[in-house]
Formats: sequence, C-alpha cells, structure tokens
Amino acid sequence: MKTITTIAELTEAITTLKSTGKTIGFVPTMGALHQGHLSLIERCKNENDCCVVSIFVNPTQFNDRNDLLNYPRNFDKDAQLINAFCDIIFYPTAEEMYKKEETEIPFDFDFKGLDKVMEGKFRPNHFNGVVQIVSKLFKIVQADKAYFGEKDFQQVAIIKHMVQLLRIPVEVIACPIVREESGLALSSRNELLSVQERKIAANISRVLFESLNFVPQKSIVDLQSFVIEQINSISGLKVEYFEIVDGNNLQPITHWTNANNIVGCITVFCGKVRLIDNIRYK
Ligand code: PAF
Repeated sequence: MKTITTIAELTEAITTLKSTGKTIGFVPTMGALHQGHLSLIERCKNENDCCVVSIFVNPTQFNDRNDLLNYPRNFDKDAQLINAFCDIIFYPTAEEMYKKEETEIPFDFDFKGLDKVMEGKFRPNHFNGVVQIVSKLFKIVQADKAYFGEKDFQQVAIIKHMVQLLRIPVEVIACPIVREESGLALSSRNELLSVQERKIAANISRVLFESLNFVPQKSIVDLQSFVIEQINSISGLKVEYFEIVDGNNLQPITHWTNANNIVGCITVFCGKVRLIDNIRYK
C-alpha cells in the first residue's frame, strides 16, 4: 500500500495503471475508518485491479465549524486497518485540494430538489460541499467503480444524480449499512460517544426495526409519530427529523402505495453527537 499526498503524483500513478489496462475502484472517505468502510474497501479490492482510498476531511461540507474541528482523525490507525485491501491511499491537505477562493464561495450545483429535504434542510450547503469534493476526486482518480455506504442514503442519491448530470464515467455502487451487534449503524461519529451513550444510541435502530412490524397497518403519519415518540422517550436521545420518503426522488410520501421504493431516514442527537440511520420499508 502506497500513500500519495499530491494530485500530480496520484495522476501519474493512475495514468500508469490505465495504460496497462488495470481497472480502478475508489472509496472516498473522511478517515476515522471502521468496519463499515472496510466492507466497502474489501469489496472494492475484490471487484477491481487497484483499490484507491481517499482520506480527506472536507472542510466545505461542514456547516458547523466545531463539527469540523471535532471530527475524529487518526491516519496511522486508518492506514493499518485498510492495509490488506487498499493499494493507494490518497491523503491530501486542504491546500492541495482547494484554491483559497473555492472554499470561500459556495459551490453551486443543480440538485433537482434532492437537497431540499432531510440532511439538506438541516445542514445548508452540506451537499454542495460533498458534490464539490467528490466531483474533484472522481476527476483525479478516474475510477471505473466507486463505493459508498447506504447509511448516507441521501448522499448516495445525490452522487448518482451528480454523475449523471456531469456525465462522469464511473459506476456508483451503494453498499449495505454495517451495524454493531447492538444494531447501531457504524459511523465515524460513534467514536465521539461515551460508553453509556453508545448503549443508548442502539435504541435508534431498535425502534426503526420495530417499526417494520407496523407496515402497512399504521399510516405514514402514525408510523412517523411512533418512531419519533419512542426515540424521544429515551433519555439522551432527541430526534432532529424522521422522514419516510420515496427512495428514488427523496420526496416525502403520504401513503404506502405512493412508491415502490420506500425508505425511512432519521437523524438523532445522542447528547451532542449527531447520528443518522435509515430503514427500508418497501
Ligand atoms: O461520506 C463521507 O465520508 C463524505 O461525505 C465523502 C463522500 C468522503 C465526501 O467528503
């Protein structure tokens, strides 16, 4: 496994790989890697000749400065975890990735409404930053396939839309959520939870899984209220939103018959830590 920190060096490595007909798989990350990332990286390695992993805490996708400052970082631990499956780690600095003005003027992208709901509503400009960095990385890495976790359901939908709109020749592959034994969806942010909070946070997925038993008997509105009330009744948890949406366009639905692909997406504060999860109803 090789660590590359500059765009020039990575471009050279990619050009050499391409000239010898090698396929490239790519897993973009912000580090603080866990078994969820590892499942993407392992799959990436199995399906491609070369597996490239980027580790870059992207400043333009954070709307809360403290969140950016507190984001967990541990390059050595990350590198050790993925060593067996990753061929190239791309680990650039913010100066390498952005000209000064790019971080000052918000990147403007046509999301066709995908960004107006859920994470987009609560984290203004977050997806502009995600699209800004992922499109840049896609241009540099020129991967055949790129792997993303379905925990970030809205992010995957937006990246698929971006790839279509910008005609980037990469296959975007969404991979299933990986959970702790307790049911808690793996996330880099889990590192910020205390032992006690981690136990409490497991109730998020417990309630989501329980809610599956009420479909389609309960109406959408009643199921939403059920999930929100159950989670809010647990001391230490506070739901920011729980939306039941059409998985294709992310718009909220009102009846179970409104769509064939229905997903419940939730964000919950566990203490100060913001956690997301989702569940497929149909
Ligand atoms: O999901 C993440 O870790 C980030 O949003 C991504 C895709 C690496 C872009 O910074």
